[in-house]
Amino acid sequence: MSLVIAIDGPAASGKGTLARRLAAHYGLPHLDTGLLYRAVACALLDEGLQLDDAEAAVAAARGLSLTDFDETRLRARDMGEAASVVAAMPPVRAALIDMQRSFAARPEGAALDGRDIGTVVCPGASVKIFVTASPETRATRRALELAGRGEEADYAAILEDVKKRDARDSGRSAAPLKAAEDAVTLDTTDLDIEEAFAAALKIVEARR
Ligand code: C5P
Repeated sequence: MSLVIAIDGPAASGKGTLARRLAAHYGLPHLDTGLLYRAVACALLDEGLQLDDAEAAVAAARGLSLTDFDETRLRARDMGEAASVVAAMPPVRAALIDMQRSFAARPEGAALDGRDIGTVVCPGASVKIFVTASPETRATRRALELAGRGEEADYAAILEDVKKRDARDSGRSAAPLKAAEDAVTLDTTDLDIEEAFAAALKIVEARR
């Protein structure tokens, strides 16, 4: 059976970096599913529409193409917050599920990261990892990442963002952020990226 790695976790937990590194290690295609929700939010904002306009959000979701994302724009700080608003609407999630499942069903396998990969998108994934870290650690990482891109990075405001997004993503009724029952939790609070990657690799090797 092909290797499908499902990585979930809260904002700035390191899940994206780990998913990318694991995908490179095993030669798998990688999908950062947060970009899908970010792209839907971005499409609405570009058209001057409200983020809770479900009909327009579904239309935007149906029209997405994985190949023409402007990642720099989508990864901007305010887009994460906007994404979590559109992501709370069940029809938007439904409109994005086939695209994610088709990606995961590629014959060569796949690595996907998000909030509901192990619970909803790929419940049968070969390996599920739930990546966590304290809110303070995640805020510090996000501030460094933004500063590295020349964006404004006020730590207190970012910590606030992280906590707000955690509450919205964990508290929503549609596919809330939570570990699948068969996921292995990896707490990266006290790990640097190399240590976290080594730990993730160990989990995959033990489970695949
Ligand atoms: O992971 P990232 O920060 O890019 O995700 C942006 C937002 O998209 C999250 O806060 C979450 O609300 C939503 N999301 C989701 N399900 C996923 C991936 C992201 O609801 N699988």
